[in-house]
Amino acid sequence: MYPLVRNRRLRKNETIRSLVRETIISPNDFLVPLFIVEGKGVKEEIASMPNYYRYSLDLIKKEVKELWNMGLRSVLLFVKVPDELKDNKGAEVTNENGLMQRAIKTIKDTCPEMIVMTDVAFDPYSKYGHDGIVENGLILNDETSELLAEMSVSHAEAGADFVAPSDMMDGRILTIREALEDEGFTNTGIMSYSAKYASAFYGPFRDALDSAPVDAQNIPKDKKTYQMDYANRFEAIRETQLDIEEGADIVMVKPGLCYLDIVREIKNEVDVPVAVYQVSGEYAMVKAAAAQGWLDHDAVMMEQLTAIKRAGANIIASYFAKDAVKLL
Ligand code: PBG
Repeated sequence: MYPLVRNRRLRKNETIRSLVRETIISPNDFLVPLFIVEGKGVKEEIASMPNYYRYSLDLIKKEVKELWNMGLRSVLLFVKVPDELKDNKGAEVTNENGLMQRAIKTIKDTCPEMIVMTDVAFDPYSKYGHDGIVENGLILNDETSELLAEMSVSHAEAGADFVAPSDMMDGRILTIREALEDEGFTNTGIMSYSAKYASAFYGPFRDALDSAPVDAQNIPKDKKTYQMDYANRFEAIRETQLDIEEGADIVMVKPGLCYLDIVREIKNEVDVPVAVYQVSGEYAMVKAAAAQGWLDHDAVMMEQLTAIKRAGANIIASYFAKDAVKLL
């Protein structure tokens, strides 16, 4: 008698498939990235990210309420800093009236229970488009970490629940944690971009914030001296373990889809929540192919998000969050 075991019994119809399904996407999985700009009444679409927008503070209120009502309860803030405020030392990063600080307050006032996480990195503020202070063609590590610690304290003062350092300087989690403790922000968390790779998938994001490394003499054209080499696996574990030892509450792997082997590896290795960032280039690819009629947008989106969660993501930062929740 052949075969006794027939796995297809569990696939016979949608009812049985849903009974045995291992991975279910829910609104609680998502962290929603938001791009903020100066101005009034601004809602501008990002050219390389169709149906994704930069919002001015007045309009972000409506957006945040909408997210909350959809069950999306965590946001990750990025600001587009006006060119005239960019420098190479960080004069603007701790401005208590800066765009980020005002954005945090606005969102917390509008929606007090929304979890507000903030991007902590220098690139939106850097006239060279780097995540750290640049000197003689090098990105300075320790000086940048100090600056990021000041930035983190400033975000905490404005009301951020979590700071999310996305810069990949060595030792910055400890520097930030100590600064937060010293200033009394013992309950402000750190979500560390622990295994962040030097990836070509960040292109559309750099359009969104106008934050790409500038093309100038003695300015590195890429971020390979601080973000990880995408060929490496063991290094991702080392980076993540160090960040946990230094005080990270949540760790992250970034980008998503090309790095799901790393996600699983880290999930098996650590016992803090693991976030995955499905980045701008991943979003752009799906939107572009769907616009051509070459892929089924919703089906591909759900397949990718489910794959990210199946790989081990406890939190998914994704530009698809709203699209996905509308389908659930
Ligand atoms: C900046 C930062 C980047 C992203 C998040 N934070 C870009 C970069 O490192 O150059 C990328 C996010 C995305 O592509 O969606 N530190």
